[in-house]
Amino acid sequence: MSEPQPIHLSDYRPPAYRVTRTELTFDLDPAATRVKARLHLERHPEREPGLPLELDGEQLALKAIAIDGQPLDEDEYRLTANGLTVHRVPEAFLLDTEVEIAPKENTALEGLYQSNGMYCTQCEAEGFRRITFYPDRPDVMATFSTTLIGDAASLPVLLSNGNPVERGDLPGDRHFVTWEDPHPKPCYLFALVAGDLKRVEDRFTTMSGREVALQIWVEEENLGKTDHAMASLKRAMAWDEQTYGREYDLDLFMIVAVNDFNMGAMENKGLNIFNSAAVLTHPHTATDAAFQRVEGIVAHEYFHNWSGNRVTCRDWFQLSLKEGFTVFRDQCFSADTNSAPVKRIEDVSFFRTAQFAEDAGPTAHPVRPDHYIEIGNFYTLTIYEKGAEIVRMLCNLVGWETFRRGSDLYFERFDGQAVTIEDFVGCMSEVSGQDLSRFMLWYSQAGTPEIDAHGEYDYTHCEYRLVLRQRTPATPDQAEKQALHIPIRLGLVGTKSGRDLPVTLDGEALGSDAVIHLREAEQEFVFTDVAEAPVPSLLRGFSAPVKLRFPYGREDLAFLLQHDSDGFNRWDAGQRLALLALDDLIAAHRNGVEKVMDPRVVEAFRGLLASDPGDKAVLAEMLTLPSEAYIAEQQPLVDVDAIHAARDFVKQSLAAALRDDFLRLYQANRADAAYAPEPEQIAARSLKNVALSYLMALEDEQAIELARDQFTADHNMTDVRHALTLLVHSSRDDIAEPALKAFGEKWAHDPLVMDQWFSIQVTRPQPDVLERVKFLMAHPAFSLKNPNKVRALIGTFAGQNRVNFHRLDGAGYQLLADVVIELNRLNPEIAARLITPLTRWQRFDETRQALMKGELERIRAEELSPNVYEVVEKALA
Ligand code: PHE
Ligand code: ZN
Repeated sequence: MSEPQPIHLSDYRPPAYRVTRTELTFDLDPAATRVKARLHLERHPEREPGLPLELDGEQLALKAIAIDGQPLDEDEYRLTANGLTVHRVPEAFLLDTEVEIAPKENTALEGLYQSNGMYCTQCEAEGFRRITFYPDRPDVMATFSTTLIGDAASLPVLLSNGNPVERGDLPGDRHFVTWEDPHPKPCYLFALVAGDLKRVEDRFTTMSGREVALQIWVEEENLGKTDHAMASLKRAMAWDEQTYGREYDLDLFMIVAVNDFNMGAMENKGLNIFNSAAVLTHPHTATDAAFQRVEGIVAHEYFHNWSGNRVTCRDWFQLSLKEGFTVFRDQCFSADTNSAPVKRIEDVSFFRTAQFAEDAGPTAHPVRPDHYIEIGNFYTLTIYEKGAEIVRMLCNLVGWETFRRGSDLYFERFDGQAVTIEDFVGCMSEVSGQDLSRFMLWYSQAGTPEIDAHGEYDYTHCEYRLVLRQRTPATPDQAEKQALHIPIRLGLVGTKSGRDLPVTLDGEALGSDAVIHLREAEQEFVFTDVAEAPVPSLLRGFSAPVKLRFPYGREDLAFLLQHDSDGFNRWDAGQRLALLALDDLIAAHRNGVEKVMDPRVVEAFRGLLASDPGDKAVLAEMLTLPSEAYIAEQQPLVDVDAIHAARDFVKQSLAAALRDDFLRLYQANRADAAYAPEPEQIAARSLKNVALSYLMALEDEQAIELARDQFTADHNMTDVRHALTLLVHSSRDDIAEPALKAFGEKWAHDPLVMDQWFSIQVTRPQPDVLERVKFLMAHPAFSLKNPNKVRALIGTFAGQNRVNFHRLDGAGYQLLADVVIELNRLNPEIAARLITPLTRWQRFDETRQALMKGELERIRAEELSPNVYEVVEKALA
């Protein structure tokens, strides 16, 4: 087998032929589905006449092919493993093909496959080529007509994009439905669903007064779990009208829940297909976090109808055009519907942990990559989340009103087209009059910029001088980096008054919450008329996706934690303070010295606990220590055991010193009201559960009683799961095991709850957990073919149980590699994602490095899918 080759952005050319209309007929059968395709083709006006017609196609058995009704002879076309070439074609013509495919053999979950007996599709990015021969690229946009034929009894529901236009019965107890989608679309937005599904229906009246039918299709047993998704959908539709002036454009909007799905959900036109975990909720089965995730994903997919579907990507290098913008849109939506500061804190802590790690590792890539082997490997935190941070910076640079005008211009100008990131940024530049050419570097340069800052107050002149130095470390393929345009929002907090001082720069009053622009490698900013010595509060709201170092003393951080007017930075000051203390403790652990808790951290926490809670959700975040993964991000060399021990020590010290406060907090936030996934209740629950975590760090009888009571009270999954996790992660097996057993038996019938049951167990810190992972892989509720199960058990173990995954005997690495090797055959996309923890080997000590690389090499020796090949090659390069 020859090695997979990369494709390059610089090689982009429009297709030789475009498809204006696509007519599909599916005769559904598990082992032999017949797909007839009639394509209306014409030469692309920008391409020369006489070119051959090249169509993508994989794993298709060709049964018939004709042009303008004339069957082709075998020497008129050529079939390969990747497609079909017709040597000579007219300028405009009809192509008819018929192929046979086997949905039930499809374990990759790309193209047409079966999940729990129902048929469904996943076409993004390049799955449509597993359905029929087609120019499978996003710049080919056609209207679609789709006829589905299936067994009437077992497949009563037949769905596709657009509107149903015809249905009827056929001989042999079969029936058919024809769907017509009037909006031209690329084939990655095609979808079909067929099965025995039930629907929940609602309506939405758009701002121009049109009625839209909203349907959520699920298996019968899930009918009671759709309320929250439906309510979220309606909120998202209204929000997009109010905020972006975007209205829905069909009479019908459908969501379907499927159990086997590689990602969260997919924005197919008019027929969004969701991983059941991203749509189904019930107070007894889903946590607050899951409710919020569902709301965000429903909104995300809905928002794609404009940012993605009406205006799509010219090629897959532009993936962040739709994803970065849409993530930004869903983040703002969630901020508006929940606690805005907490949403930002959650997003940024995730970003700084996971995206920074990606940017620092061997798979680092720009937000717009310039080459790839397998596009499926580029659905990454960089494309999505860093892309969203760039759009956020753009919005802040030009201001919301202007940004909105730029967005209007973009949707108007490019409606129905497949475009590029330049087209989007160009609109922003046009409406704002700003030159954004320098800003474009954010899209092409990989790696996380690091800013070293220091400042000095000049008492005699009442000036504060701030020096900022930026540097972006080298990443694979990009040794040299240029200085970026980095907007830094800041305040100068007076040490006497505890208030934001007015910020004056170069004679210009910037207000008390200012934005300065770092454009050079090094720049000095002199703020004048600074009445008292300030502590600078820098990068407020995480105004740019960078690492910013400033030599804060612990007193400075305690001060900001108390006084910063920016909620995000107040939280961040607490995180920085905790990190300083953790650093000392990590060093103590490594040197075998007795650990001593920094009293300043204890006092800071005491202050938080004594203060008026204000936004309870923010307080819960403030009381939460940085995760082991985030602490690891800050270390030059990751010592998983020292990090774990240090963090545990801080937790226990805080719990011991502040036990009564935590107990009070716990009691004060218990509520008996009926569960609702509403911000106030969610905030109270998180505060209560943070308190319980601290109390359980002591594992005294009272704490155990509280956790046990909370578990048995069984009010809602948030409380039950939290209590169960604390019990299972405690050293009290006598209590943990019965609780785990009871939970597992109660929920054996519910796959989404069993996923949680798996995750809770495999994050236990106890050293026997690896054996448990292996044991659970044989559990009847587990299946390697179901991505949710793989993520819940294997992904969670490797990604979150840091001490045990990184066991010094290498057994954790070996387990992961074994699973990757098996999944490489079954589901390459999931296999490639699962490798991530092994690709981070550079961050660890030599022994672990050798073990991790050894496993990567063992994977490399296999016959690999392009997906796994690309990741492993990069990791070992
Ligand atoms: N486009 C989907 C989203 O962002 C994600 C996705 C990609 C789903 C590829 C499936 C396959 O909403
Ligand atoms: Zn998306």
